Amino acid sequence: MRRYPDSRVEIQGLSARYYDLLLDVASLGTYRSFINNAIASIGIGPDDKILDLGAGTGRNALLMSRFLGGNGRIVGMEISDEMIKRFRQKTKGFSNIELMTTRIDEPFDLGQRFDKAFISFVIHGFPHSVRETIIQSVYHNLSEGGEFIILDYNEFALEKAPFWIRLPFRVLECKYAFDFIQRNWKKILTEFNFGNFVEKTFMMNYIRLLKAKKMTSKQ
Ligand SMILES: C[S@@+](CC[C@H](N)C(=O)[O-])C[C@H]1O[C@@H](n2cnc3c(N)ncnc32)[C@H](O)[C@@H]1O
Repeated sequence: MRRYPDSRVEIQGLSARYYDLLLDVASLGTYRSFINNAIASIGIGPDDKILDLGAGTGRNALLMSRFLGGNGRIVGMEISDEMIKRFRQKTKGFSNIELMTTRIDEPFDLGQRFDKAFISFVIHGFPHSVRETIIQSVYHNLSEGGEFIILDYNEFALEKAPFWIRLPFRVLECKYAFDFIQRNWKKILTEFNFGNFVEKTFMMNYIRLLKAKKMTSKQ
């Protein structure tokens, strides 16, 4: 049962089962190198404890795990039955990757603190008040100086984008994504006490990896 009928990030059934394949085909094979580059740009350290919010099929967790040493860990959060099944199949045998079936759209405390919280193509698909709840939970579950990493659409004016961006965006995306691209995300994150932003853009600047550090009151 979907909680946000207007959203397109609550992915279930066949779309979830073939999610990775659909992305590869729809991007004419370019998604693979894009996601490899994006994850390499996170700057994962061997001992990092990483939270992956809306972890999907486990593809990103596996890519991130390549940068981890013996003490590093990844905890995925996911609620779609089909995605959970995929994630568990894909990451079987990786003792440093685990999955929690905890919702990210409600306040959560996982009882441990993370060095990095990664959210890839999820946060754009929620109403803004829910995004704020997610940001607050991320802040709470990060260690001091931990990083929040958002891989998602960049900020851009849709009406100024070329038709081959405008058209698929209008057809495929939900109303929350239209709102997401118009907001000033560094300003929003600053209001939640994140700072020291570092960003890298992909796909002709329409996609951005935005890293934000958890600041303490002294910084
Ligand atoms: C567009 S997919 C992105 C998956 C993955 N992050 C990636 O980049 O491949 C969005 C994911 O968020 C998950 N999701 C949606 N709402 C969620 C919620 N409230 N709590 C946890 N996961 C959620 C979906 O099941 C889906 O796997």
